[in-house]
Amino acid sequence: EQWLVGIDLGGTTIKMAFINYYGEIVEKWEIPTDKTGKTITTDIAKAIDTKLEQMGLTKAKLGGIGMGAPGPVNLEKGLIYETPNLGWENFPLRDHIELETGLPAVIDNDANIAALGEMWKGAGDGAKDLICVTLGTGVGGGLISNGEVIHGINGAGGEIGHITVVPDGGALCGCGKTGCIETIASATGIVRIAKEKLQSSDEESILRKNSDLSSKDVFDAVEQGDALAEEVIDYVTFQLGLVLANISNGLNPEKIVIGGGVSKAGDLLISKVDHYFKRFAFPRVAQAASISVATLGNDAGVIGGAWLVKTKLLNN
Ligand code: BGC
Ligand code: NA
Ligand code: ZN
Repeated sequence: EQWLVGIDLGGTTIKMAFINYYGEIVEKWEIPTDKTGKTITTDIAKAIDTKLEQMGLTKAKLGGIGMGAPGPVNLEKGLIYETPNLGWENFPLRDHIELETGLPAVIDNDANIAALGEMWKGAGDGAKDLICVTLGTGVGGGLISNGEVIHGINGAGGEIGHITVVPDGGALCGCGKTGCIETIASATGIVRIAKEKLQSSDEESILRKNSDLSSKDVFDAVEQGDALAEEVIDYVTFQLGLVLANISNGLNPEKIVIGGGVSKAGDLLISKVDHYFKRFAFPRVAQAASISVATLGNDAGVIGGAWLVKTKLLNN
């Protein structure tokens, strides 16, 4: 039996996996992302070769590659239009991957494939109307309606991360606008807001002792009863709950799944987002939707990539 290759290209790491037809990971590993974007496709090709060699296998074992990339994608052309957090514009990603690996490939947006992964093997649990939001370097969104990912007219369907929540005076986003939810609910956004709060007040906080703050530190501080950290997370979850409520009023989903590195905060994150979501969503929408953390965690993307290969390349 052949394996499927799932690849999830993130801002800091590229997650790679060999996956069987049942969606089970056989082997997974990570390589660093070349932030200039220049060597990404050759890095991937080399990584596959090295892994096969280590396992004593050849390329014949692999049925194809399904890859998620951090920007809007043209599926038919295999093109990634732009990358708010990486240096690509109108980049023929699929052709490069096929040429350098010698394997057939299919690409989609990273959050879209995370949504597919969750629908197939994760928290989606058969749900055909699902929203997946990924909180990492950026904020990604995957919208699945009646089992199909919504791509829209030019690939930007589901770009939840760039919904404006601060109409005036918001922080500059990688997309060129200001005040996007990505500037608030991404890992970097959370840290930015924490730092701003630390500077603008003289409230005591354990975060003051930390010179190299991460979003995890902010959540940890909340768990330890830190009031300033709590205000930060309260603001972040308020804005995210609002965004999810508004987008849900358009989609009426059964499941809302939160993934990406920030989702490791688990219950603390989910309970607060859920609180604000229920406040802002249309009551009937709120009634139907359950919010949970991505069951597959950081594997959602690679498993969704395998799903793409299985359904789009191998048609089964
Ligand atoms: C991009 C999305 C991507 C997300 C997560 C955003 O900045 O616009 O396309 O899904 O980052 O990588
Ligand atoms: Na998306
Ligand atoms: Zn933006």
